[in-house]
Amino acid sequence: MDFCDKVVVITGASSGIGAAAALMYAKQSATLVLVGRNEAALRNVAQDCEAANKKKPLIVPADLTIDDHVNKIVAKTIETFGKIDVLVNNAGVGYRGGITDGIELYDKAMATNMRPAYLLTSLFTPHLIKTKGNVVNVSSVAALRPIKDIEFLPYCISKAALDMFTKCSALELSRKGVRVNSVNPGGTKTPFVEAAGFSKDQASQIHEGRKDIYPLGKVAQSEDVADLILYLSSDRARSITGSIYVIDNGEMLV
Ligand SMILES: NC(=O)c1ccc[n+]([C@@H]2O[C@H](COP(=O)([O-])OP(=O)(O)OC[C@H]3O[C@@H](n4cnc5c(N)ncnc54)[C@H](OP(=O)(O)O)[C@@H]3O)[C@@H](O)[C@H]2O)c1
Repeated sequence: MDFCDKVVVITGASSGIGAAAALMYAKQSATLVLVGRNEAALRNVAQDCEAANKKKPLIVPADLTIDDHVNKIVAKTIETFGKIDVLVNNAGVGYRGGITDGIELYDKAMATNMRPAYLLTSLFTPHLIKTKGNVVNVSSVAALRPIKDIEFLPYCISKAALDMFTKCSALELSRKGVRVNSVNPGGTKTPFVEAAGFSKDQASQIHEGRKDIYPLGKVAQSEDVADLILYLSSDRARSITGSIYVIDNGEMLV
């Protein structure tokens, strides 16, 4: 997998899976655009990437829930590099709650996990058609069935919508030579659980507990998921579009 001469835009590149993917793309010679709200964290990731391939990533601090920020990501990418080859819609937050917890959580989950992927992909589409590029959306096993031990209704709905977005946009763009696929992780060791409002202790209990439940006896590392993202966005996956790839240590089997 060689991403030399490829421009790769990653949202949620400041942490977890997005940060791991950034470093992995850098090691494969990609030119990177790193997006997130936490500028200091983005700078750290960018430093590691630059150390790996001597190419300075473009950092775009942006809150994806603000349309002007999303517009800025596209403008800066094209202004700086003139093109995009791969878009990784990875940013996401685990909004918790149930049916009686108010509609606000639904709005927040869709605003963070679904709407930016739609808007960013649509704005980049004319540029992706030019390069015959591709999109990888980072969804979740939560798109495919409810999470049993955590009330996660808003999150599950937002990721299920993202999966249908993957399939519909893949079909629409297939004749234009643009592929769109999804990576759907199960439990993965990142700050995601804490970002969803759990304490550090609760987060480590959740990760430990998952190890006993998952058939392979472990949770995934960010790099495991990043590896699949890279594969799907590479030329090796040239015959794959509209596919939903689960990576969950067997979670969906039990
Ligand atoms: N970890 C898991 O167990 C797991 C399982 C299934 C699916 N996933 C999915 O994997 C993806 C990556 O999550 P992760 O596990 O790596 O968690 P993470 O470490 O918490 O990373 C989440 C990323 O999303 C970014 N983000 C969140 N809200 C944003 C906003 N409004 N604007 C811009 N960026 C925003 C964060 O950046 P800033 O804070 O800098 O804005 C951060 O870089 C998510 O879509 C998540 O739903 C994770």
